[in-house]
Amino acid sequence: TEYQTIVVETRGRVGWITLNRPEALNALNSQVMRDVVDAATAFDADRGIGAIVVTGSERAFAAGADIKEMEAKTGVEMIVDGHFDAWWRFAEVRTPVIAAVSGYALGGGCELAMMCDIILAADTARFGQPEITLAVIPGMGGTQRLVRAIGYYKAAELVLTGRMMDAAEAERCGLVSRVVPAADLLAEASSVAESIAAKSLPSLYAAKAALDAALETTLAEGLRFERQAFAGLFSTADQKEGMAAFREKRRPDFTNG
Ligand code: HXC
Repeated sequence: TEYQTIVVETRGRVGWITLNRPEALNALNSQVMRDVVDAATAFDADRGIGAIVVTGSERAFAAGADIKEMEAKTGVEMIVDGHFDAWWRFAEVRTPVIAAVSGYALGGGCELAMMCDIILAADTARFGQPEITLAVIPGMGGTQRLVRAIGYYKAAELVLTGRMMDAAEAERCGLVSRVVPAADLLAEASSVAESIAAKSLPSLYAAKAALDAALETTLAEGLRFERQAFAGLFSTADQKEGMAAFREKRRPDFTNG
């Protein structure tokens, strides 16, 4: 597929999506949304892919939804055309997704990172939900996922003031999985992604679905889901292989089935 706003690569079992609109600090216009959603769903449908990395440039992961594209839209257009609605398909990807964030992750950029499962941040990363400064509010999960990630009071302060936080603060409050020196970001993302992609695909899908359930359901429902998913994995060849390899003190050879 030809993409206009992203660069897509496959390295072994890892799919890479690099946002590439340097002239707009990777602002997320509708073409970026279509490209990212298409690339991510294609990787998700590919049994040869066990992890996806989404990254931007050194200066910006993404500086938000494209303000210039949105400016003239009417409320009816936003609702009827569902201007940013396809992003939900990105959040529905079953493959683990790692956001490798350097520079600005603002507005929709911060929200895109929060749709990923792991957020690796360069020490130069800056996160924020500045929508309120434009007289709007976050629209791709910023009020919901941020509250769940960092708690109500921290999230409310960010959403109501629009201020940015640096990587250290983001790590302290639990928005990022880990902070690394900027020069090491892509190598770290690659190593985390390869470590994940080497696991058995059914177990990765089950783990991600169960983790998602923790944010979406009650504890009782989530525990029921986890127990079923856990039991279901005993029907895979890879479960037998993984446990035999442990007993035989060797590395497992997974077939993703
Ligand atoms: C469109 C953007 C943009 C954006 C930057 N640019 N962010 N264009 N939409 N979100 C463009 C600028 O217009 C400029 O192009 C070029 O990128 C470089 O940006 P500068 O502002 O010149 O860079 P700098 O002075 O370094 O400031 C960086 C910045 C600032 C602090 C990140 O660009 C900024 O505040 N951007 C907007 C951040 C924001 O409000 N994001 C939330 C958007 S709303 P030109 O050609 O003009 O020089 C949102 C809603 C999500 O995300 C919900 C969706 C459903």
